[in-house]
Amino acid sequence: MNLFTQPAPGRTAQRAPPLRVSGVDKRLHGVHVLRDVSLSVGSGEFVALLGASGAGKTTLLRCVAGLDSIDSGTIEVAGVPVAALRRRARRQVAVIFQRFNLVQRLSALDNVLAGRLGHVRSWRGIARRFERADRLLALESLERVGLLDYAVRRVDTLSGGQQQRVAIARALAQQPDLIVADEPVASLDPGSGGEILALLRRCCGEQGVAVLCSLHQVGWAQQFADRVVGLAQGATVIDVPASAFDDRHAQRLYARTAGKEPSTEQT
Ligand SMILES: Nc1ncnc2c1ncn2[C@@H]1O[C@H](COP(=O)(O)OP(=O)(O)OP(=O)(O)O)[C@@H](O)[C@H]1O
Ligand SMILES: [Mg+2]
Repeated sequence: MNLFTQPAPGRTAQRAPPLRVSGVDKRLHGVHVLRDVSLSVGSGEFVALLGASGAGKTTLLRCVAGLDSIDSGTIEVAGVPVAALRRRARRQVAVIFQRFNLVQRLSALDNVLAGRLGHVRSWRGIARRFERADRLLALESLERVGLLDYAVRRVDTLSGGQQQRVAIARALAQQPDLIVADEPVASLDPGSGGEILALLRRCCGEQGVAVLCSLHQVGWAQQFADRVVGLAQGATVIDVPASAFDDRHAQRLYARTAGKEPSTEQT
């Protein structure tokens, strides 16, 4: 039985894209960090978010995940405003962090089961009394990332690459509409990083989950993403198919542009 082919309880057919960001502005301590940001991510689409350090990538991803509020504009996950339905948005958006954010003293399986917390009654989550279907889904998620044999291993005995696989399995077990990943390979060596991105792309494509993933490596964005969105000084200045992203775009994102107003390029 493939549990991934079954819709999550209560999930209905959707027409709205998994993510639609429109005209978002945000200030932090007087700094205009996001400026009129707009982008969308379709089902099963992998969008790389590029931009120089300080461009606003983490801030945008935190707002999309419902971890931070926005000052104006809208962020909708599958047609639902994140600001209006924070708890539901949290279930629909899975987050993958650079430093994995796993509970080190728990097993890989228990960490993956944490992805089910938004789906089960709260007493079950507190008592860690998950139903058989949730356990099967968690095991299948671990199998998908190649770690079924490590299910009962404590996470603190796993390598960084293996821990990031557990984090991906936890995100998949959540059965989200969207996975937000903030530099998920920044803590890994280049070989492991490429494997993790390939895995994320494959699993999400198969499951139809949208991915918005910040990266610092242009080459990986071109290799793994469907589209590239570029942020500069908090504004979306590039939104092109990954195959169209070239040196000119990279120059625009990473050349020093202090004092210049960002202009936008889209296809
Ligand atoms: N809590 C905060 N208070 C004030 N300014 C902040 C805060 N957090 C972030 N900023 C500012 O917002 C801007 C965007 O930061 P952000 O962390 O989103 O950038 P980033 O694109 O993720 O950078 P990096 O590639 O280095 O991770 C920066 O100028 C940063 O200094
Ligand atoms: Mg960041």
